[in-house]
Amino acid sequence: MSSNSPSSPLRVLVVIASSRPGRLAPAVAEWFVETTRRETERERMVVDVVDLGALALPFLDELEHPSTGVYAHEHTRAWSRRVADADAFVVVTPEYNYGMPAVLKNALDYLYEEWAWKPVAFVSYGNTSAGTRSVQMTKQVVTTLRMMPIGATVALRIGDSIEDGRVSERPMLGRAARQVVVELARVARALRPLHLAPATDGTTPGPVDGLSLSRVGEGDDVSELLVLQRSCWVEEAHANDTLDLAPLHETLADVQAWAKTWTVWAVRRHGRLVGAVRARAVGSTWEIGRLMVAPDQAGNGIGSWLLAVAEQHAPEEATTVALFTGKRSRRNIALYERAGFHLTAAPTTPDDAVLLTKSVAATTLA
Ligand SMILES: Cc1cc2nc3c(=O)[nH]c(=O)nc-3n(C[C@H](O)[C@H](O)[C@H](O)COP(=O)(O)O)c2cc1C
Repeated sequence: MSSNSPSSPLRVLVVIASSRPGRLAPAVAEWFVETTRRETERERMVVDVVDLGALALPFLDELEHPSTGVYAHEHTRAWSRRVADADAFVVVTPEYNYGMPAVLKNALDYLYEEWAWKPVAFVSYGNTSAGTRSVQMTKQVVTTLRMMPIGATVALRIGDSIEDGRVSERPMLGRAARQVVVELARVARALRPLHLAPATDGTTPGPVDGLSLSRVGEGDDVSELLVLQRSCWVEEAHANDTLDLAPLHETLADVQAWAKTWTVWAVRRHGRLVGAVRARAVGSTWEIGRLMVAPDQAGNGIGSWLLAVAEQHAPEEATTVALFTGKRSRRNIALYERAGFHLTAAPTTPDDAVLLTKSVAATTLA
């Protein structure tokens, strides 16, 4: 997940969207990055360039739909982290047969939530139409992923703008490229609250509308929390093929007891309790647990958001954030890995569970 501080630099991912030997794309991307260096510095943007040719993702080979975030392959997880880290994208694309290159469509299809609520600009090139038909086709795809195409654009006609495999220095092209950066920065800043973890002061609205976050206090009636917990752990019972899960059996008195010794956050959507998480310090470890999101609200970012809330409250002395989940809870494990946690061997872990950890330094950077 990209940084949640409004003042932290914007991270821009420049995507080189062709893969054939002898292609023009890397030269066009290099021109764009060089031509806009002063503007990206002024806008406090950190530019990362990914070459889809070098990345060499296989044709989509994941079993689960990308919207689940359950990724079996390391190449998908690495791509997910790279895209999740970005606040904005610049796609450098040619036109192939009036459309987008297959390598670009494939790279987009791999992921889902990682793209959402982030602006995208296009630097296109081609023969007669300067790649604009490729851009039109790509816009149809990226808006489905909830990316936001900006208006400023660069379109290069190869015959007019490229000599000896390099983009010619023309004032008009340079101006267009710089305008892309200025507009991208503006839109990226405006959209940031939509895709970032919430600020701890509760001013950030979260990933969907109508959310309100509160701390569960000692005197609170936690019966709603008990009902939510039971409904959330039904899926865990299915995934792990067992009913022997404490959250399914706990009584109201049990939940009241742990709510006194853990810090518990509850999130409501338009008044209805839809999620919760708890955390406590054990030595230098900030233990997070019972991350729950109402089943009908799953997949819209509330879980990642709540996890970030819990992480942000780690005390200064904490060096590690830790959490357990079911060994076969693939959806949870995927969510935690996307948030930078790593599966960690621990001798005391029960047979049916796994431990995931993250250093607090990584939490601060994430
Ligand atoms: C498979 C293929 C299809 C192409 N189709 C178009 C097209 O529809 N319109 C166009 O303007 N140029 C088309 N071109 C020309 C490309 O725009 C030009 O070759 C460009 O350099 C391709 O980008 P690349 O060098 O990064 O692969 C096509 C090129 C290829 C290889």
